[in-house]
Amino acid sequence: MNAKQIVSQMTLEEKAALCSGKNFWELQTPERLGVPNVMVSDGPCGIRKQGEEADHLGLNQSVPATSYPTGSCMACSFDRDLFKKQGEVLGSDCQAENLSVLLGPAINIKRSPLGGRNFEYLSEDPYLAGELAKNYIDGVQSNNVGVSVKHYAANSQEYNRMSSDSVVDERTLREIYLPAFEACVKESKPWTIMCSYNRVNGLFAAENKYLLTDILRDEWGFDGYVMSDWGATTSDRTKCLEAGLELEMPGKNFAADEQIVRDVQSGRLDEAVLDRACERILNIVLRYTENRKPETKIDFAGNHEFARKIAAESMVLLKNDGILPLKKDAKIAFLGKFAETPRFQGGGSSHVNAYQVTGALEAAKGLNVAYAPGYDTAKNEPDPALLEEAAKVAAEADVAVVFVGITDAMESEGMDRKSLHMPENHEALVEAVAKAQKNTVVVVMCGGNIVMPWIDDVRGVLYAYLGGEAVGPATLDLLFGDVNPSGKLAESFPKALADNPSYLYFFGDEQNKTEYREGVFVGYRYYDKKEMDVLFPFGHGLSYTTFEYSDLTLDKTEMLDTDTLTATVKVKNTGAMKGKEIVQLYVGAPKDTKTLRPVKELRGFEKVELAPGEEKTVSFTLSKRAFAYYRTDIKDWYVESGEYCIMAAKSSRDVCCAAPVKVQSTTQIKRVYTMNSTVAEILEHPHGQEIIGKVLANSMFGGMSNPEVDSQGVMTSEAMMHMGLEMPIRSLLSFAGSTKGTLGQDLLDALNA
Ligand code: BGC
Repeated sequence: MNAKQIVSQMTLEEKAALCSGKNFWELQTPERLGVPNVMVSDGPCGIRKQGEEADHLGLNQSVPATSYPTGSCMACSFDRDLFKKQGEVLGSDCQAENLSVLLGPAINIKRSPLGGRNFEYLSEDPYLAGELAKNYIDGVQSNNVGVSVKHYAANSQEYNRMSSDSVVDERTLREIYLPAFEACVKESKPWTIMCSYNRVNGLFAAENKYLLTDILRDEWGFDGYVMSDWGATTSDRTKCLEAGLELEMPGKNFAADEQIVRDVQSGRLDEAVLDRACERILNIVLRYTENRKPETKIDFAGNHEFARKIAAESMVLLKNDGILPLKKDAKIAFLGKFAETPRFQGGGSSHVNAYQVTGALEAAKGLNVAYAPGYDTAKNEPDPALLEEAAKVAAEADVAVVFVGITDAMESEGMDRKSLHMPENHEALVEAVAKAQKNTVVVVMCGGNIVMPWIDDVRGVLYAYLGGEAVGPATLDLLFGDVNPSGKLAESFPKALADNPSYLYFFGDEQNKTEYREGVFVGYRYYDKKEMDVLFPFGHGLSYTTFEYSDLTLDKTEMLDTDTLTATVKVKNTGAMKGKEIVQLYVGAPKDTKTLRPVKELRGFEKVELAPGEEKTVSFTLSKRAFAYYRTDIKDWYVESGEYCIMAAKSSRDVCCAAPVKVQSTTQIKRVYTMNSTVAEILEHPHGQEIIGKVLANSMFGGMSNPEVDSQGVMTSEAMMHMGLEMPIRSLLSFAGSTKGTLGQDLLDALNA
């Protein structure tokens, strides 16, 4: 039986029951009709399958599983293949655990560095987030297990996460907060989407028809089912169903099921809407159950090595004055408790019961490494005795590596961070060690970004983020140069919290509204536009070798917005070590744009591996969306005609080559002239000059074509010119003494003809 046939045999009560979970993780399928029960589980960076004692906050233990680097870490790999491979492994492991859907990827945009779940999310840039998430989805789903792309949409804070209202203008929504979801849906066809807790422009995501149906299904062609985040359904289940929310999680919410039955019986809810929801859910259930691979096994040892590889490909070398890589025969001091008990994952629903955690100290067995804890992870205040001990151990070594970061208590689902500073005792440890040992390197373990008041006092910084269960060996791989660092930041590091664009209105107001007033200027889009210094820019990351870019070539210099552009650039490894470079391609809007647009936006990236002396040509293809912005008046993407700048860059602040391309819009936007249209606008009309000539001739601007410069400085010709050009028709007519009669209407008729 197919889904439709099954639905036709289900009772009203069974249909209502299918629309909410049986319990925390299982669906209530109609087993009497031969549909097996299925289970879903978190995600995104490991499997969190729970038994009887279930919760959605990571409180109760789940089955042992591989803990991979979190999204914020792995995104820095900029590596599509790695995401795909990770998806494949996760999908296979889900088959082994009999999980029909993995609750991830989590792709919300990092609007503020304080975002409590930034550690799970991928980037501040929607293109990067979308590209990586697509590959994760392709990987998981290649094993016939679904994903749930979450949390849709505009869910970028934890504060009041279940009720806050994200007030976002349409252009910002389309350009920043939706494109990653759009790319996933259009190109990777996720089996499910998870709607978020928050409201979007006044309406809860769970009952937001505009998001769940108009955009998701009608515009993007989504054909799976939408599930609610755990507890995100509103008290009007019927309204949610009608909006396009098929599955309520968790279960069993009898009140909601009863409401569905009651509303169908009373005629408030069309049963066809319920049938459609059931069909959508069953389609996915059957897709999974009919192609099970029950013989699949989990290779925990292999996964651990894979987690190590991911971490080593992702961690970012932020600073290195030549101190790194370290020599294996050096006398080294490891300072900081995180060397022994690493912080490697975040708190909340993504928290997995890691199979095997290896810290840096354990991984360093056999090397000449001394250790001192330096701080107490349960405390914020520095402990003078621990600091003194750490400084002593550091002083006696050739080089010191300080392991610091943000503690579990400071960074988790359910709350936003309060500061960008590390705990006081971590900062104090860096200072104390740097004072005692001039060769000091810092390893930071943290899900998001931090400020670094000590940056000038240390010789190197390796940003480990939350590196998963194999964080220790991966860190050593990079510190000793067994692996050449290749990660680059998927988010900007501002110099101070107050610099970030959402700073003034991140937590929302009294009415629980969080206004996204910075608009499209999120992350580097803002820092670039404001020409602000940052601590480390988006896209930054060092290597133990050096790369040189040359010969950026475009296959055309002029194009229509319907054409595609191919850009190629040569990249050469000019150092002595094999390494990988993430080549970034940005597009800059025309300098004379009349629209408020970012200086540049990431539109392509490729990660290439190069042997010493080797050169490769990297190629990018750009089409309309790479040049477009979302125009709300035409409700569509629009490319303004003009000269765009194509930039090949090592980071958002390190553009190596640039080339111009003229793009011509093919969209005809018919302007409707009104009495408020200006002379300048009329002159843009093909016959504008002629049409307005008559009126102008009789006005005080009649002699405008040859204005006199006023030597007294009362009004210059330029000012006169502006006043004339910017004058609305209604005012012009009045100056021309022509407000009476039909001249105005005649003018409009001629312009609008
Ligand atoms: C989180 C989701 C998660 C769900 C189930 C919610 O609290 O927001 O990301 O998938 O719980 O654990």
